[in-house]
Amino acid sequence: MASLSLKGIRKSYGAVEVIKGVDLEIEQGEFIVFVGPSGCGKSTLLRMIAGLERITGGELVIDGQVVNDVPPSKRGIAMVFQSYALYPHMTVYDNMAFGMRIAKESKEEIDRRVRSAAEILQLTPYLDRLPKALSGGQRQRVAIGRAICRDPKVFLFDEPLSNLDAALRVATRIEIAKLNEQMADTTMIYVTHDQVEAMTLADRIVVLSAGRIEQVGPPLELYEHPANLFVAQFIGSPAMNIVKGKIEETGAQTSVRLPGGNSVTVDVATDASEKGKDCHFGVRPEDLTVTTADDFLFEGTVDIAEGLGEVTLLYVSDIREDEPLVVKLPGIVKVDKGQKLRFAAEKAKLHLFDADGKTYRR
Ligand SMILES: Nc1ncnc2c1ncn2[C@@H]1O[C@H](COP(=O)(O)OP(=O)(O)OP(=O)(O)O)[C@@H](O)[C@H]1O
Ligand SMILES: [Mg+2]
Repeated sequence: MASLSLKGIRKSYGAVEVIKGVDLEIEQGEFIVFVGPSGCGKSTLLRMIAGLERITGGELVIDGQVVNDVPPSKRGIAMVFQSYALYPHMTVYDNMAFGMRIAKESKEEIDRRVRSAAEILQLTPYLDRLPKALSGGQRQRVAIGRAICRDPKVFLFDEPLSNLDAALRVATRIEIAKLNEQMADTTMIYVTHDQVEAMTLADRIVVLSAGRIEQVGPPLELYEHPANLFVAQFIGSPAMNIVKGKIEETGAQTSVRLPGGNSVTVDVATDASEKGKDCHFGVRPEDLTVTTADDFLFEGTVDIAEGLGEVTLLYVSDIREDEPLVVKLPGIVKVDKGQKLRFAAEKAKLHLFDADGKTYRR
C-alpha cells in the first residue's frame, strides 16, 4: 500500500546519462505502464525503484519517505523479470516459499501465503510439481506467485510476458489484470513493448524516450490526444500517418495545405502568427476511409494490400515521399494492386503538430 514519488530522478553510467530527470507521482493502487523504444531507460528506472541500481540524482519517495539509500529488501517491493529464474530442483511450493523461509517466517504463515497466492494464480494443482513439468506461462505465474508471497507494497514487472507465445501472453495478461483487481491496494509498475498490454492493463501509461518522459496519461487520452509527434507515432499500431503541411488559415479552426494540394480544416485553434508556417498533419490508419468525394484528404496508388481477415491494410504511394501512407480498413476489402483510391477522415480524428512536433491544443 504505497504511493511513489519520483523527483528529478537521474542515472549516469560513467559519463553517460541514461535517465535525464524523471518526475512522476504514482498513487497507491495505481497500475502504471512504462513504454518506450529499446534502450530508453525503462528497466533502469524500474531497477532504481527496486533498489537494484543506485540513483545518481534526485529523490525517490515511497509513502512520504526518501528511500534512495534504503536497501532493496527494506523497500517493500517485489519484482518479476522476463526470465523467471525458478529453482529447477524445487517444487512450485518450495519455489514460492523460499524467500519467506530465508526471512524466517513461521511455517503456518508460509503455508497460508503460498496457498493463497496459488489460489489467485490457479496454481493449486501444480504445487508439488517441478518447474520443468510446467508450461512457460505456468512458470511465469510461479514467479509472480513468489512475488505475491512477499506481500509487497509495490509490484514491479519488467516485460514478464515477453518469453511466452502469443496465446499464453493473452491468457497470462488476463491473469495479471485479475491479479490487479484482487490486489487493488498494491501499486504496480509494468514495463512492456506490447501495445495491447499497455492499453488494456494501465491506469496510466508513461511514454519514455531517451531517458525522459514524453507524456503521462490514461491510455485512451494518449491515443486521442498525444502531446507530440513522438507519442502520436508510438501509441497505436500501425503508427499514425504523418505528412508535412503548411498552415494557410488560422483562428478557432485551422486550415492546412496538404502535399497533394488539397486543403483541410482541422479542429484546433491557432494564433495568427502561425500562418504560413510548416506543420505536421496526422491521421491514424484506422481513421481513414475510402471516398469518391472531391473533398478527400489524399489520393494515391495502392502498392500492397494485406488481408488479415479482421482488417485489411493498404500501403499507398504517391502521398508521402519517404514511406507509404497506411490505411486500415475493417474486414475483408478487395483492392487491386495499382488501384487509385481517395481517402478521407472525420474532422475530429485529425491531428496537427507544429514544426517542432508539439501538438496544437484543441
Ligand atoms: N550497466 C550498464 N552500464 C552502462 N550502460 C548501461 C547499463 N545498463 C544499461 N545501460 C544503458 O542504459 C540505457 C537504458 O537501458 P535500459 O536497459 O534501461 O533500457 P530499456 O528501455 O529497458 O530497453 P529494452 O526495451 O531493450 O529492455 C541503454 O542505453 C543501455 O545501454
Ligand atoms: Mg528493459
